[in-house]
Amino acid sequence: MSVQALMDFIENSPSPYHAAAQAARRLEAAGFAPLAECRRWEVEPGRGYYVTRNQSSLIAFRLPAGKPEGWLLTAAHSDSPTFAVKNDALEGDDRYLRLAVEGYGGMNRATWLDRPLTVAGRVLVRTAEGAESRLVYLDRDLLTIPSLAIHMQRDVNKNHDYNPQKDMQPLYGLTGSRSLTRLLAEELKVEQQALLAWDLVLCPRQKPVVLGAEGELFQAPRIDDLGCAWACLEGLLSAGGQEKLGQVYCLFDNEEVGSGTRQGALSTFLPDVLERLACCLGMDGQERRMALAGSMLLSADNGHAVHPNFTEKADPANRVYPNGGVVVKYSANQKYTTNALTAGVFKAICRRAGVPVQTFANRADEPGGSTLGNLLGQQVSIPMVDIGMAQLAMHAAVETAGSRDPDYLARACAAFYECRLVQREDGKYSL
Ligand code: CO
Repeated sequence: MSVQALMDFIENSPSPYHAAAQAARRLEAAGFAPLAECRRWEVEPGRGYYVTRNQSSLIAFRLPAGKPEGWLLTAAHSDSPTFAVKNDALEGDDRYLRLAVEGYGGMNRATWLDRPLTVAGRVLVRTAEGAESRLVYLDRDLLTIPSLAIHMQRDVNKNHDYNPQKDMQPLYGLTGSRSLTRLLAEELKVEQQALLAWDLVLCPRQKPVVLGAEGELFQAPRIDDLGCAWACLEGLLSAGGQEKLGQVYCLFDNEEVGSGTRQGALSTFLPDVLERLACCLGMDGQERRMALAGSMLLSADNGHAVHPNFTEKADPANRVYPNGGVVVKYSANQKYTTNALTAGVFKAICRRAGVPVQTFANRADEPGGSTLGNLLGQQVSIPMVDIGMAQLAMHAAVETAGSRDPDYLARACAAFYECRLVQREDGKYSL
């Protein structure tokens, strides 16, 4: 699988809603049938289905031919740090119109300055029956956040503090421009009065590009975590079905703000889906718990590659690089779920598939980040391992990673979904 396929996925996923919709389209094209949480489910063994929550999180699954004895799951996130649009254009002084925005997640603010931006997300539209949500992406260079000239802030290159309210409000146009509401109404071909509410975020307009002397790198917005979201989905779609193990793909929104929402990794979304499937498939209480114990989950989110200009920031021994293969992430404080059991099983699967693996750990004096798995584990007690792609400039407006790693990760996920994992006893697996 080429890096171009991932770059197309990223370009077509300017918001979490678009990412989930795109995953849904790919799943439907591969024969997965849509289910709704608000309707009764009828499912057949051997078939694939998917369900969304809040339009921004999605869980897809392929049922085994027989009663499930375990689940092979992957989880990635659909959101990335950005700015949420609070209000339509406001007058700044006599001449300028700006959108009012607030930060979403922890981004490197300076990287959002002086580049073309636009808005994407969903709009709630009034209909004859009530209201319905429509995805919207204004596919044009619409906004920019101009930096203040160095002449007016001579210290800008020294520890500058970017205040989100002061520095980061995007310029929308000049007084007299059409309102954002009107642009959205025109795009959606509805009356302005029909727009009831929106969830809109800013997105950089830079197209994903391949770079490096031999094209060994690529650069794009939202590589964290659409790189993993794409690779896990590719893995599921390219894997064959199983006799005894169900295959589950989770895409969660709101990881960048702590996952504590109705559709985040801390929500009941995954346990609700597994519980419903157990009901549909006639699994009794013992069988449900046996299946959870016999499961494994890949918590897929990117890790920090050694930075070429700051090599000392990486741990001296556990260093990961672009195109070095799938990253397995360790944290003694369990911010990552990886342990010897789960890492060992995952490495054995990768070795069999011919996929290189590299190991990441933070420096002992760096706390490091957190991700999905350790939070998801509070809802569903399943053995997990934290993995991802090595990347640079995490949480910048555009990020950089290795061109070969998306393929490595997709192949690792496919091999994982195809493995015949059986937990023989606590601490003992056959693969
Ligand atoms: Co992430």
